[in-house]
Amino acid sequence: MMIPEEGKSKEEVLKELKLAQQNDARWEEGRIFSLVFHFSEEHSDLVKSAYNMYIHENGLNPMAFQSLRKFESEVVQMTAFLLNGDDNTVGCMTSGGTESILLAMKTYRDKARKERKKKYFIPEIIIPDSAHVAFLKAGEYFDIKMIHAPVDKTGKVNVKAVERRITPNTIALVGSAPNYPYGTIDPISELSDLAIKYNLNLHVDACVGGFILPWLEKLGENITPFDFRVPGVTSLSADLHKYGYSAKGASVILYRTMDIMKHQLFVSVNFPGGIVMTPGLTGTRPGGAIASAWATLMGLGQNKYLENAKKLSEIVQRMKEGIQAIPELEIVGEPQGPLFAYYSKSPEVNIYAVADLLEEKGWHIDRQQKPASIHFMINPLHEKIVDEYLSDLKEAVSRVKENPNLAKQATAPVYGMLATVPLRGMVESEVRKIVENIYKNTGSNINLEEQNTPDNGLTIIKKLLGYFLKK
Ligand SMILES: Cc1ncc(COP(=O)(O)O)c(C=O)c1O
Repeated sequence: MMIPEEGKSKEEVLKELKLAQQNDARWEEGRIFSLVFHFSEEHSDLVKSAYNMYIHENGLNPMAFQSLRKFESEVVQMTAFLLNGDDNTVGCMTSGGTESILLAMKTYRDKARKERKKKYFIPEIIIPDSAHVAFLKAGEYFDIKMIHAPVDKTGKVNVKAVERRITPNTIALVGSAPNYPYGTIDPISELSDLAIKYNLNLHVDACVGGFILPWLEKLGENITPFDFRVPGVTSLSADLHKYGYSAKGASVILYRTMDIMKHQLFVSVNFPGGIVMTPGLTGTRPGGAIASAWATLMGLGQNKYLENAKKLSEIVQRMKEGIQAIPELEIVGEPQGPLFAYYSKSPEVNIYAVADLLEEKGWHIDRQQKPASIHFMINPLHEKIVDEYLSDLKEAVSRVKENPNLAKQATAPVYGMLATVPLRGMVESEVRKIVENIYKNTGSNINLEEQNTPDNGLTIIKKLLGYFLKK
């Protein structure tokens, strides 16, 4: 495709954008359980106005746009306050959870190289099996060996197994508050004891929890301690664009002291273009994301966050109770907060077949593989769909039970098989080829109808299944 020679009118372009949206997930109707975090229409108006007001400003040079420097600094301070930091707590804004995590891992690698006076050793970081995939990305990007520690049946990392994995090359431990797959909080205090005993850094991934767990705790919920009150915690990541309800492209990485954060900063004095200093991975930083994050915290204030947390808690409670009332289903582990997953404990009910039937009813379902389960990230839009979802779920479970053939149709066997394919290396190389193809697709117009199958992941694994059946 080429850039049109003559630009189209604003009306035409906007019309095409609108049209392109028609096959996207219907998040406004609460039919999707991830990717979108929506507080209210009124709040979205504020976020959009703030974003628009700063759409051209660039956070790359804090001297040129001192307003952005002030907003970033205040966002960091407010986040540090929420997560019980003190006057020594420092940090910066990033583009999202993944960047915050990448930065923390790079920081610990560079800190270890300096402290241990060994530039070329392969540092090791111990992560729970349930840790977000961004930690694996950090391992690949920064040449850090990520050592996996198992998670027990409560969905939390086994701390004894973590201790057994500590070697002279270990530089840091990781815990999540909560993790993505199960919504459970790792035993951060026990990880902190280990970190102190072995003189290690401890990063807590509170990307999802940072802007929701503190409010739930204030409302009296029993939340496992995870923030700077736990003495061994040296850094925390918390995403504003998740339960902070800011525009996408906004997260915060916090460190206990500048003595740690200084290893994150990039400075170059040799570039012909001048002296460059950047706190994070990117150069240009969107002023809109920074300004709207500040506007979000100022506009919502503690009381609205508290009200929202109460509402979320009630939605989660209703969902969980409804799921547990279905005898074949069970919640995975012991989740805290708005994330959780459920699985089938009955051999007669294939959970992927249940997912297929739910999708037929217009729900966008996130399927997981370990265990085979369905995942939720609850947000306020789900208040209106709880009863409808539970009724569809109940019906889907009965239908799957009555029709064993459903487990052999649609995506059910594909997901089932994929989860059990032993040769993960082959799966990976096939997925790589598929991704390369997606990004090679520059020669022709992308057909939106084709692209927007209900689940793009499904297209990928169907191709994979074809590959394995051929073998
Ligand atoms: C626990 C956790 N950590 C990190 C991330 C990564 O965040 P992002 O998608 O903003 O990069 C996610 C995303 O869902 C997450 O759930």
